[in-house]
Parts: sequence; C-alpha cells; structure tokens
Amino acid sequence: MAGTGDFAEILDGDVYKYYSDGEWKKSSSGKTVAIINPTTRKTQYKVQACSQAEVNKVMESAKSAQKAWARTPLWKRAELLHKAAAILKEHKAPIAECLVKEIAKPAKDAVSEVVRSGDLVSYTAEEGVRILGEGKFLVSDSFPGNERTKYCLTSKIPLGVILAIPPFNYPVNLAVSKIGPALIAGNSLVLKPPTQGAVSCLHMVHCFHLAGFPKGLISCVTGKGSEIGDFLTMHPGVNCISFTGGDTGIAISKKAGMIPLQMELGGKDACIVLEDADLDLVAANIIKGGFSYSGQRCTAIKVVLVMESVADALVEKVNARVAKLRVGPPEDDCDITPVVTESSANFIEGLVMDAKEKGATFCQEYKRDGNLIWPLLLDNVRPDMRIAWEEPFGPILPVIRINSVEEGIHHCNASNFGLQGCVFTKDINKAVLISDAMETGTVQINSAPARGPDHFPFQGLKDSGIGSQGITNSINMMTKVKSTVINLPSPSYSMG
Ligand code: G3H
Repeated sequence: MAGTGDFAEILDGDVYKYYSDGEWKKSSSGKTVAIINPTTRKTQYKVQACSQAEVNKVMESAKSAQKAWARTPLWKRAELLHKAAAILKEHKAPIAECLVKEIAKPAKDAVSEVVRSGDLVSYTAEEGVRILGEGKFLVSDSFPGNERTKYCLTSKIPLGVILAIPPFNYPVNLAVSKIGPALIAGNSLVLKPPTQGAVSCLHMVHCFHLAGFPKGLISCVTGKGSEIGDFLTMHPGVNCISFTGGDTGIAISKKAGMIPLQMELGGKDACIVLEDADLDLVAANIIKGGFSYSGQRCTAIKVVLVMESVADALVEKVNARVAKLRVGPPEDDCDITPVVTESSANFIEGLVMDAKEKGATFCQEYKRDGNLIWPLLLDNVRPDMRIAWEEPFGPILPVIRINSVEEGIHHCNASNFGLQGCVFTKDINKAVLISDAMETGTVQINSAPARGPDHFPFQGLKDSGIGSQGITNSINMMTKVKSTVINLPSPSYSMG
C-alpha cells in the first residue's frame, strides 16, 4: 500500500515529504499542497509546499553531488540504475495505486506504466554503457591545407544539473525517461513533479533512494508552481531542462537562459484515412489512439481526416466500438475514466458546446458526471470549429471528411502542432509520400501514434517541442562533446 512498508519514511502524518540531500524532509514553509482525486474530487494526498530557500539547498547539493558522480565509473552508474529498475518493478503495486488515485489511470495501465518505467531505466543503463563508452578520433589532414599534425579525441561529458519536469499523464514514466539518461551520463537531477502525480513520483524516487544513489544526486521538490516554478526554471544552478507538458513549456523556453532544452508540448495528431484502408484496422486504432487513458495523451489521435467515400462506413465501425467502451472508475480498470481535473473537464465541455453550436454531428449523446466524460465522436466537423484545432485532452474525437489527400495534408500542416500523425492505406508508396508531406516529428503508417517503444526517437515540430527524445537521443542531449587535441611537432602518417 502507498506510504507504508518500504515507503513509510516518505510520509509524515498525512503529508508526503520531499527529497533533498538523500533524506526525506518536511518543508519549513509549514504549507502543503492538496492533491485532488479526479474520481472522488476530494483531497486524496498532501505534499510539501517547498520554499525557494529549499530549492536553493537542493541545487547546491545537486551541484556538489554531480562532481563526485561524474568521477564514478560508467559500469557502476549502470549497476545502480539496474538496481533501481528492479526495485521499481518490485514495488509496482503501491506506485500503481497512487497513479489510480491521483490521475485516475485505469488500474492495469497504471501497473504497465511502472513496469515500462523499470524496463526503460534498465535499457538506459545498457545504452549508456554502449554509447558513452565510445568517442571519436579525428586527424587533421582530411581538411584542406592541413598536414597530419593534429589528433583530436572526443568524448561525451555531462552537462551538470538537469531539471526534470514531467507531466501528469505519465508522472512516473516520463520522469524516469529524464532521470535515467541524466544519471547514466554523469549528471545530477532535480525533479519537480506535476501536482497530480506528485505522490507517484515520490514513491518512484524512493526506489532510487533504496538503490543507494549518492546523497544529493537526485532530489525531488514539490510545491506550488507560483512559488517555485519560475524560480526553478530560471535558477542559475540549472544546466539543462527536460520538460514534458502543455504550453507552459513555451513560457519556460522564453525565460530559460543559455542552456539546452528538451521540450515536448503536446500535439493535434491527425489520422488520415484513404479509400483503400482496412477500415476495421482503422477503427481499432482510432479507439486505441483516440480514447485510451480517456484521450489524455499527447500522442492521442486528435482529429480523423477521412476520405468522404469511406467516411460513413468508418464512422459506423468506430461508433460500434465506442459503444463497447467501459466508462467508470479507474479502480475497475474502465476504459474511460475521469479526466484529471474539473478545469480540464470544463475546457473539454467548452469545445463540445462550440462544436454543437456550429453544427457538428454528435454520434453519441454528450454526457458528463463530475470529471467523468463519456466518449464522444463528433462527425462532420468543419475548420471553423475549435475542436478542429485545439487539443481536448479528453475522450472527444472530431472527424473531418475530406475530398482529397491534399486536403488532409493541408489540415494536418495548418496546425500549430507537429508531434505525430498517422496514415492508413494499403499502398505503401502513397503512405511514404504522405508521410514525407506531413509536418510532424513522426508518422505512423497503419497504426495509431505512440511514443514507444521507448528507445525510438520521439520529437515534435513547431509548437510540439524542441529537441528529440527516446533513450539514445536523451542521453546524447544531456551530454556535451569535449575535445582534446594532440599537436605533433611534425606530420605523422601511420605506416608512412
Ligand atoms: O503524453 C505524452 C506521452 O509522451 C505519450 O506517450 O505515446 O506512450 O502514450 P505514449
């Protein structure tokens, strides 16, 4: 159970502690932040409201711990990460319980998130050993005008202190996707969890604590964005920010200084359906891509662009599957569970009402109870409707009927987002041409968008992000190349 057994030390009364300098602590602010259970809409947990002084302390420890960690052999860093991965998987039940209570993630998906996270950490350890164990050797005479008098040796060095800010929808998995690469590369890490998801993050961090990482190398500060948000992201001690979330990331990137940024900020992933597509496959993927975790995924299908000639048939198939979705509490492992906050539910409702006023066809009756919104397919959506462009982050999916592939590509590319997209057709040549024309970081052919497997590159164009994620890319992003040049007194040619 959460907060008991191995996790008892992270809880003080009914308030979870924050993690600094290798210890679980109460904030001297004396204030707490309540975490509302999306299902009951009552306070489920409380966490510390850390102060700016506590953030400063964490930054100091992170800086000094990093120096020692960078001198720790790579194989030893990997060994500790493997240990943390095993402990994480061993404690999947209490962590999954937190995910169910804080973010209403369906019970089975919550367990999968923790297991996937353990696997991600192990893979990161292995990948790090491979890619950080190698450097480059360059010789000067390949560049015009040079003799072979210079040997250049390059290696990858850590950046220093990484600030990791994961989102509510994968608080554990998208935290470890930043923690693992940061640590294997010799950095220290400061984690600022999302409010909803903070307790899952604290449990996950405790698994790293139990694995025996050095004091101060990992810290986790909880609190109000208004008090410590900007303070953290503009802190002079931070050498790199890895953020996943909404358009707060745009504000962060404007305020951050001369440091590398890794940003993943959402999407409006289009699903283009051609006349020759296997409509049963498309319908199954629309359900998985559009409605899993109630549409609260940046890679969810957020608009279907279907050729008019097959639109009726597709809508009928999707509706038949929507009718089978189980709606209810996450504890019952329902397919559709309450969205994360009341304000999210209100926002989604605003999009639905706008579509209603402007004449979209409601394939199901719009139904809401608290934060629980029943799945809804909106047909005959037109570009003047907000739902055609905005991300609902809820179980509402618009269908736009198109008369040409170009029309579909045009709609996809007119979006401010450019995360992923998908195209369904049996003609691989057409699929590749469409993929090339779509301005998105990834295009899936004959499957719904998805970030995983976690070692695949994952990136967004335009407002969807900066940089590329995926295990290898994240390790590289959290390092910098360092060169040492050996200057010889005279040219030297091997075997010359
Ligand atoms: O919400 C954003 C996540 O990066 C999406 O991950 O494709 O595994 O659901 P996913």
